[in-house]
Amino acid sequence: MCGIIGYAGHRPAVTVILEGLKRLEYRGYDSAGMALIQNKELNVVRAKGKIRELEDKLAFQDPYHATTGIGHTRWATHGLPSEENAHPHPDQEQKLALVHNGIIENHARLKRELQQLGCSFRSETDTEVLSHLISQELKQQGSVPRAMSTALQRVEGSYAVALISLNGEGRIWAARHSSPLILGLGQGENFVASDIPAFLPYTREVVFLEDNEIVQITPSSWQVLDGSSLEHRDKEQVHISWDVQSAQKSGYRHFMLKEIMEQPRVIRDCLAGRTDSSRATTLLPELDHLPLPRRLHIVACGTSYHAGLWARNIFQDWAGIPVEVEIASEFRYNRRIIQEGDLILAVSQSGETADTLAGLRQARQLGHRVLGLCNVLGSSIAREADGVVYTQAGPEISVASTKAMCSQMTAMLLLALHWGRMGGFLDEPARRGILRELEELPAILEAELEGMQQTAQRLARKYAWCRSCFFLGRGDHFALALEGALKLKEISYIHAEGYAAGEMKHGPIALVDPEFPTFALAPGNALQSKLLSNLQEVRTRGGPVVCLAPPGLDQDVDDIWEIPAIQAPLNGFLFLSAMQLFAYEMAVYLGKDVDQPRNLAKSVTVE
Ligand code: AGP
Repeated sequence: MCGIIGYAGHRPAVTVILEGLKRLEYRGYDSAGMALIQNKELNVVRAKGKIRELEDKLAFQDPYHATTGIGHTRWATHGLPSEENAHPHPDQEQKLALVHNGIIENHARLKRELQQLGCSFRSETDTEVLSHLISQELKQQGSVPRAMSTALQRVEGSYAVALISLNGEGRIWAARHSSPLILGLGQGENFVASDIPAFLPYTREVVFLEDNEIVQITPSSWQVLDGSSLEHRDKEQVHISWDVQSAQKSGYRHFMLKEIMEQPRVIRDCLAGRTDSSRATTLLPELDHLPLPRRLHIVACGTSYHAGLWARNIFQDWAGIPVEVEIASEFRYNRRIIQEGDLILAVSQSGETADTLAGLRQARQLGHRVLGLCNVLGSSIAREADGVVYTQAGPEISVASTKAMCSQMTAMLLLALHWGRMGGFLDEPARRGILRELEELPAILEAELEGMQQTAQRLARKYAWCRSCFFLGRGDHFALALEGALKLKEISYIHAEGYAAGEMKHGPIALVDPEFPTFALAPGNALQSKLLSNLQEVRTRGGPVVCLAPPGLDQDVDDIWEIPAIQAPLNGFLFLSAMQLFAYEMAVYLGKDVDQPRNLAKSVTVE
């Protein structure tokens, strides 16, 4: 989604803003711009395309010496990607300019009202409505915070906005509702941004803004106000331990490969401080205030949904808790029965996914408890849930989610262990065995990743011709098949379908022919013989079959990808990594934009 950075300090704002926007590129965008005040004039520079287009335009302007400004990368939601639709958007009198991330749902009605007041619009965006609305209020109120407060209370939808005005040179005002915005507090300089990497080289001290708060920053001060009363609000300052390096590629060609290879560390970090082998128990104080759930409703999107689907049987087997797993955009509109004692588990790497956040809010409005499972500290889902368990995976920059799923699976294993002990469903010897296998997992995965990448590279080259393919699995490997298909299609643009292997004969097998390969997950469990007979059905119709299986598979297939035989369900981490690497190597071989695939954004904060 869109990226915002505001800077008030002692350095040339142009440089700080450009660097900050580059560190937000991973969010996905199609245009960029910045606004500065210099010699009592508002200067707005915008460009369609990548940030280098904006840099080229700036190169032809008089050098800007301003030390305060706002910048933006836009991921189009209303109005095509273009210079006119790029942010910042000034008001009619060119007295203020504003950048925005989110969607103003009642923008059409507000626009009509403003046009009747004589406002003329230059763009197709919902954002420009905000500029005019605040400008109109400023004429009445005289103060920017009061004008923002009055204007934003009329807005329906989501927004994170930053604004500069000739009414306050050297100041930046910002506010948020359902869209992330964070303060960075430096020495003689302050920042506001959509995400931490934008200002991480300058400061690690941050303040997370909440909905209905307005913030004012200058080079030497910052103030958070209640969005309605404008009374001062005390806020907690948080120290970020990430270093710039960990938010960069660490020498890997792409963030995606770095994040796949980080997975052994991610498992360790997710487990860190949360297991006590001596007592065969988990240490999850985040859950202390929550009773044992009667039923679990896992709500998520995309890869996070696949993680929830994978964990379903584990919650049932280890803790005896019935589980419903729902796609968030379905959950929020479907009728469903949630009863007293049920718990909603909102799984989201970014903690900002609109559909998942909306599902959380709806459940809470109905009086149900919600537990967040998030990676981003202080994200909306993390703050609005009744409790949150952080996956501690560190920043995930690549749009294709990999280590996030690995950390979500690890965290859900801990939750199942925790509730299994709490409910007396899992005895100590069983828990001890599971904890021991969990602690051994990172080293096993670490030892396999390099070899997996080589196999992935070989198979990617061999099957790069395919236009469509199946990923098949049974049981918890069905969820992994869905994820393998999602990974391949979202970064290589090859059509891939994840399917329950037993479903093939109910229609999909009509597609099978020599041009339509099938990748099958055959972990060697009790369903193995049934899965292998499904594969024979594919083979007899001439469909190429690649089978991922433990060593020793005796099966007539085109390729066997040996996956070490470790105890289920932990073998899922190995199958997952193999498919992530296969998708990665395929996208690299086909020359795709691995970290920023077309049409995708890292965090989908719109419905
Ligand atoms: C996965 O590779 C995609 N980037 C996408 O499906 C993602 O998992 C989904 O949008 C959910 O994001 P979240 O975990 O941040 O809520």
